[in-house]
Amino acid sequence: MSGLERILGAQGMLTGGAPGSAADIEPYLRDQRRLYHGRALAIALPRTAAQVSELLAFCNSHRIGVVPQGGNTGYCGGATPDESGRQIVVSLARLNRIRRLDPLDYSIVAEAGCVLARIQRAADEAQRFFPLSLGSEGTCQLGGNLSTNAGGVHVLRYGMMRDLVLGLEVALADGRVLSSLGTLRKDNTGYDVKSLFLGAEGTLGIVTAASLKLFPKLQAFAAAFAAVPDPRAAVALLAGLRETSGDSVSSFELIPRIAVDLATRHIPGVRDPLDAPHPWYVLCELTSPRAADPLEELLEHSLAAALQEKLVLDAAVARDERDRAAFWKLRETIPEAQRRDGGSLKHDISVPVAAIPEFIERGSRWIADNVPDGRLVAYGHVGDGNLHFNLNQAPGADRAAFLAREEPVKRAIHDLVRDFGGSFSAEHGIGRLKVGELERYASPVELDLMRTIKHALDPNGILNPGKVIA
Ligand code: FAD
Ligand code: MLT
Ligand code: ZN
Repeated sequence: MSGLERILGAQGMLTGGAPGSAADIEPYLRDQRRLYHGRALAIALPRTAAQVSELLAFCNSHRIGVVPQGGNTGYCGGATPDESGRQIVVSLARLNRIRRLDPLDYSIVAEAGCVLARIQRAADEAQRFFPLSLGSEGTCQLGGNLSTNAGGVHVLRYGMMRDLVLGLEVALADGRVLSSLGTLRKDNTGYDVKSLFLGAEGTLGIVTAASLKLFPKLQAFAAAFAAVPDPRAAVALLAGLRETSGDSVSSFELIPRIAVDLATRHIPGVRDPLDAPHPWYVLCELTSPRAADPLEELLEHSLAAALQEKLVLDAAVARDERDRAAFWKLRETIPEAQRRDGGSLKHDISVPVAAIPEFIERGSRWIADNVPDGRLVAYGHVGDGNLHFNLNQAPGADRAAFLAREEPVKRAIHDLVRDFGGSFSAEHGIGRLKVGELERYASPVELDLMRTIKHALDPNGILNPGKVIA
């Protein structure tokens, strides 16, 4: 332990050993869904990338497991230590400087502990736009976003986190540092080594900083909350809207009626934007960096045409920033409303966009036939083919009995996903929760390559043991 103190300084770690200090380390020991609760030798709070690299060299030579942690908003238990009490949690929260922002180069270099919303703000103040946007953006950190390859509500137009990265700085298991923080748009010099660390959930190295792409600041917005008869109409509406808007759709989120009910019931200030209830909705947004683009007019015309074609049943178009924020509040608080409503089983799946309607039909049928105490709450980023195909316990159902169905429900849904050529982990990662699922659904060749990479980069298995790959 004295070796750690030498590297981090007395203020740079928490052990929970001092009287009254156990509560300080508690938040680092559990995941945000409360699925796991671990123990730790210490919580390391490095301030510099050099400290992270020294810490890793030390842990490697002493064979101490290291669990990187960002904002701890991940859904798969990836940032939580195991129960052995022999691992060190490395919180990147204090490694949080924005090192450089170059508006001419459309790039920003930020450290792993920067909260996502801060990066968005810095870009905005420089008349630029950083597109990654998630419900957890006020808490999650860049290092976690990179390590989970986060998605969110702008993937349709700007891609996932991976697509926004120009360079990385990573501390490797043995303490060496991969320093590749350039902002080149083109670079074909051999293997794209940095891409290995994106989505690796801390199992191949600790990301200490990244250089990221920026885009022109958005100046025009048009958002609508539209009722649609079914997911088939939603997918058709999106396809048409992409054409008629000159591909300026930046978000297209599917929301079922039950999610509107949950959000309006559990979240203060959320209200249904439409007068009458409908079975399904989409929240769609057009955006442009040109202030003069008549997006609202365009959206209204498109929706009017869709009303004629019966693809849309009713719609509210945001008249000002308040309306727009209210639509987004409804959408972004669905996970919290679900949590407040009771037990839930989450499935973060993706299938080809055009297959979404059939997937929902078949999945809903299976749930109706097999889970009498559950209700489907299927919502999400339909423009990316990504649904949060979640179930909540039905009113009055027994929470424990409902949650005990996790295995058979997961199997049925993930098998269905496989039949559609889809993914059982679209944007939330594997962590600890889905290690068995990866083993089950990945091909032997994929698993072999993943194990080869893991062994090459972390031969002593100190980096986030027990996560991603068994
Ligand atoms: P953590 O939870 O701290 O860690 C996640 C993983 O990354 C862990 O395996 C951890 O070990 C590893 N890690 C963290 N930092 C580093 C580092 N510096 N180097 C190496 N490994 C590291 N996710 C989406 O993709 N899309 C959404 O729309 C979305 N919405 C959400 C809404 C809510 C309300 C909540 C609570 C979560 C949501 N998430 C979403 C999930 C979560 O916010 C993302 O996965 C996010 O990217 C995690 O960031 P974090 O900093 O909290 O990471
Ligand atoms: C979202 O899109 O709201 C999250 O990724 C899903 C969730 O929180 O379950
Ligand atoms: Zn999501």
